[in-house]
Amino acid sequence: MSTTAPGSATGTVIGAPLDRIDGPQKVTGTAPYAYEHHVDNPLYLYPLHSDIARGRVARIDAGEAEALPGVIAVISHHNAPTLADTRDRELAILQSDEISFRGQYIGAVVAETFEVARHAANLVSISYDEDRHDATFTPDRDDLYTPEQLNAGFPTDTEEGDVDRAFSSAAVTMDETYTTPVEHNNPMEPHTSVAVWEAGDLTLYESTQGTHSVRRLVAKLFGLDRERVRVVTLHVGGGFGSKGLPHANTVLAVIAAQVVEGRPIKFALTRQQMFSCVGYRTPTVQRIRLGADENGRLTATSHDVVEQTAKIKEFAEQTAYATRTMYATETRRTTHRLAALDVSVPSWMRAPGEAPGMYALESAMDEMAIKCNLDPIEFRIRNEPELDAETGLPYSSRNLVACLREGAERFGWEGRDPTLRARQEGRWLVGTGVASGIYPVFRLPGSKVRISYRGDGRYAMEIGAVDIGTGAWTALTQIAADALGVGVESINLSIGDTDLPSASVAGGSSGITVWGSAIFEAARAFRERHGDDPAAGDTAEAGTPDNPDTENYSMHAFAAYFAEARVNEDTGEVRVPRMTGVFAVGNVINPKMARSQFIGGMTMGLSMALHEESLVDPRFGHVVNHDFAEYHIPTNADVGEMDVTWVDEDDPHVNPMGTKGIGEIGICGSPAAIANAVYHATGIRVRDLPITPDKLIH
Ligand code: MOS
Repeated sequence: MSTTAPGSATGTVIGAPLDRIDGPQKVTGTAPYAYEHHVDNPLYLYPLHSDIARGRVARIDAGEAEALPGVIAVISHHNAPTLADTRDRELAILQSDEISFRGQYIGAVVAETFEVARHAANLVSISYDEDRHDATFTPDRDDLYTPEQLNAGFPTDTEEGDVDRAFSSAAVTMDETYTTPVEHNNPMEPHTSVAVWEAGDLTLYESTQGTHSVRRLVAKLFGLDRERVRVVTLHVGGGFGSKGLPHANTVLAVIAAQVVEGRPIKFALTRQQMFSCVGYRTPTVQRIRLGADENGRLTATSHDVVEQTAKIKEFAEQTAYATRTMYATETRRTTHRLAALDVSVPSWMRAPGEAPGMYALESAMDEMAIKCNLDPIEFRIRNEPELDAETGLPYSSRNLVACLREGAERFGWEGRDPTLRARQEGRWLVGTGVASGIYPVFRLPGSKVRISYRGDGRYAMEIGAVDIGTGAWTALTQIAADALGVGVESINLSIGDTDLPSASVAGGSSGITVWGSAIFEAARAFRERHGDDPAAGDTAEAGTPDNPDTENYSMHAFAAYFAEARVNEDTGEVRVPRMTGVFAVGNVINPKMARSQFIGGMTMGLSMALHEESLVDPRFGHVVNHDFAEYHIPTNADVGEMDVTWVDEDDPHVNPMGTKGIGEIGICGSPAAIANAVYHATGIRVRDLPITPDKLIH
């Protein structure tokens, strides 16, 4: 373990490429993930899923399962505890015989081993009273509705000026519709709970992005005092949002722990089960209309979105959010409409809203640049806004143009022949594409940090935040060192436990902004109270302070992406041998880990562009390709050279570290760079992700 940062003297730890503090534990297999926490005498849970999409459970015959040696309990709505709060219909499972989507939890088998539980689950015979369901997502349904607001509280629709008039009088126009499919998060570690229910106290070892949010939710659902619920999450094998909002798997584990009181329950989803109940990226249909004057300046921008939600619970994704701020335009309109279906509830997936929205917008910008006879970089630069049009505020920093220029240089954009199908190598058509990226700087409420001096030159730094694999263990240690003016070896960080001060969820790329600001505030409070020469046991606690600059500035991270695509003329196969990503994200806490976040985000962007698609069979309402054999996520063989860098950006407004979130920006825009490169290579504009061979062979 390398704990000596280059220049780990006061104030310089931030920015040092430290190795991961948790690296040695992880590579030696000793970092405990949720399932690996030792508990005495555990039982194993295997869920029962509904085989129909709508109706009722008529009869559950568990006789054969219960007779199997090793089976402890078969749980269903007949014997599950009554929940204290059943308003959230995604989470209030086993409260009645009602079925609202295919794959819904309708019960569970608890047994001495996982294998016995799984086998017994197959022996449970369930009959249904089936109702007609509706799982067909189309944009022309007559029952689309307007949600009150979007995810993260964004307004549903916005309008500035008369878009229709500006569009009809524009010198150049485009009007196209882009679609994106259902996609499922597939972190390497599935959703996992180990639930220990003892004398009215509940301990959960949980694979989650937010220990405190799981605690709040479980306490509410089960009518427990928060103090009686402890959630522990030391390491997480990826979340991407699917572990950001708690899902019903956690509830099922706790129900089982209550039913078999006295023995802990272990529940890890199988890969196939990851496709039914832990959220997914909503499919979108996005109509974009752009109008421009003779000089390529946008006069009209309109982005109308139709997406899917579940009848039992609304999730309204902010698909057109980025379009509200990305470019200068004289008039602008964005709208969101929802189709509520008999399906499971969509939820967060890396950059919900921005990722599918930026695919459409940045594809449209490419189409429009060509119509305006402008290089796509020049076209974007011409439409750089002075202010954030949505709020009317200046940007705290906006270095998109610097990213585009730096990227053009690194990628070798200059001299690019815009002619379609201009480059061919053997049977491979070769093209290049560019796209911009944006992601907001979110601040979530509810985080606190406690600092205690241990007396041996070391400080305990405590916050119940979660490292979902991003490197938060290391980054927070670095921030703590700088905040206290000591080296990283003086910091003992504790995270991932509700026994520690509360922390917001690791979501919205907000962790470092929120938790790091609280660390700085706690360090300030500590120094104020104890001076520079503290005694053992001295302590201070502080929350994330308000940042008055959030009222005065619009805060976003920016990026530029470049991709080379090679398309086989005979097979339609697409290869992406190289991508360049240039980021403007303020200060970078740890270049080594930031690089890996950017590469990860761009790889997920490549995956979104070329591979990922959950195929829903509307006749049954389930995802057919629910495994890694048929839901492809990229392997090493799919990923070419990922060239990643960032521009120097000093943003004094965002937070004391000067950082912007980096977890999600990598997937916002990068899929469009690939789609644009495919168009340049082939002359075929695929407006329907993913770009699979069938869409390129005519
Ligand atoms: Mo991320 S999709 O906000 O967890």
